[in-house]
Amino acid sequence: MKDVANYKDYALLSYHHIPGVHNLEIFERAGGYEMMKACFLKDPEAIKEEVKNSGLRGRGGAGFPTGVKWGFFSKDRNAKKYLLCNADESEPGTFKDRYLMEKNPHILIEGMIISAWALGTQKGYIYIRGEFYQQAVILERALKEAYAKGYLGKNIMGKGFDFDLYVHRGAGAYICGEETGMISSLEGKKGQPKLKPPFPAIKGYRGLPTMVNNVESLAAVPWIMRMGAAAYKQWGTEKSPGTKLFSISGDVNKPGVIEVPLSTTLKEIIEIHCGGMRNGNALKAVIPGGSSAPVFNAEDSYSVKMDYEDVAAKGSMLGSGAIIVLDETRNMGDVLKWTLEFYHHESCGQCTPCREGTGWLESVFKRRDTGKSQKSDIALLDKTAASMRGQTICALADAAAMPTQGMIKVFREELEQYVTTTGKK
Ligand SMILES: Cc1cc2nc3c(=O)[nH]c(=O)nc-3n(C[C@H](O)[C@H](O)[C@H](O)COP(=O)(O)O)c2cc1C
Ligand code: SF4
Repeated sequence: MKDVANYKDYALLSYHHIPGVHNLEIFERAGGYEMMKACFLKDPEAIKEEVKNSGLRGRGGAGFPTGVKWGFFSKDRNAKKYLLCNADESEPGTFKDRYLMEKNPHILIEGMIISAWALGTQKGYIYIRGEFYQQAVILERALKEAYAKGYLGKNIMGKGFDFDLYVHRGAGAYICGEETGMISSLEGKKGQPKLKPPFPAIKGYRGLPTMVNNVESLAAVPWIMRMGAAAYKQWGTEKSPGTKLFSISGDVNKPGVIEVPLSTTLKEIIEIHCGGMRNGNALKAVIPGGSSAPVFNAEDSYSVKMDYEDVAAKGSMLGSGAIIVLDETRNMGDVLKWTLEFYHHESCGQCTPCREGTGWLESVFKRRDTGKSQKSDIALLDKTAASMRGQTICALADAAAMPTQGMIKVFREELEQYVTTTGKK
């Protein structure tokens, strides 16, 4: 087992301080693509086993163990199947994948080549959100370099293994981050989610087995293989092993992307990594896992450990690791209003509880502008949100309902006051 006294020597952001590391030559000089070469000497099943043993949990939001998901995938190396990287990153507050792809596109490409070799996929796509134009250009350039080196294409490293990788730009719809919505979009259809099961690993792109993994999940594969599962698990907890990227925004002195072991306290993240609260203001609330995660008040924020279990035990979710920090000057009514406008706008419209429900949630705040809102609207908001949960094709309806109910639970009085104070100036 490797000595991992300092995970920063191995982890995802360990290359970020190297100027020009987005160039293949510089990435290779720093040790890039070494693991890809080493993995081509390994049995693909052994790679899958190592990833499974590492306990890596999918970084797209749900936290499902990557190795377990890989285990559902067809083992037939002659069957046509796909690897799809989810680079849509549309959850408000999340910007870690963008940072990773922009600074070090090759770490993702290396992770995808190793994963493709392990899974036996011949084609891969990086589905990147339309707004990430600059990152798409950086990735395209990196792909060209990897093709020129023979790391992509036909008979890679003389192993008789072919893998083609493409960048596909979305058109800016949040729902294309949901894996089946993404597959519909990639197929040239409207980006609308499909009923599951069947899951994409069984029946995905063009009806064929498709492994969908998030950017951060795939980029973690080379460092898991370099260190070995046992060393990787020295960080974090038994159920949340390894390190995680967190995107931190809001009222802190140093917002940005950090990589820390899972289970680091939110207090440490805010006070040490983010340089404390901006202007010395008091902390009021934290949304710990992107805009769909229920909010914590200041007290809970300071006691929570940022791992999947502790955040869930305290009533929220780690999600994509987007931490939104709000200080005493923020009005929670504004925060919820903007959140609900977003989800209503992004509903794809297939399911009634989502299409109508997100509109109803938003309408409470619209009514405020007319001066006709009442305190009881907040109870109505709670009831409407509750009725939307678990009723729809995908989890967007839940993504709108959960922060609504979470906000009411913690800041009911403030919301009641907000809706009964007209928003019109
Ligand atoms: C409404 C909705 C939006 C989502 N958006 C994203 C996204 O932007 N990026 C992402 O990686 N996963 C997103 N997901 C999760 C994906 O459906 C899928 O679970 C994930 O890409 C699988 O990768 P992972 O196992 O590596 O996490 C979203 C899910 C839902 C329900
Ligand atoms: S829950 Fe909403 S976004 Fe998801 S499929 Fe239904 S209508 Fe579309």
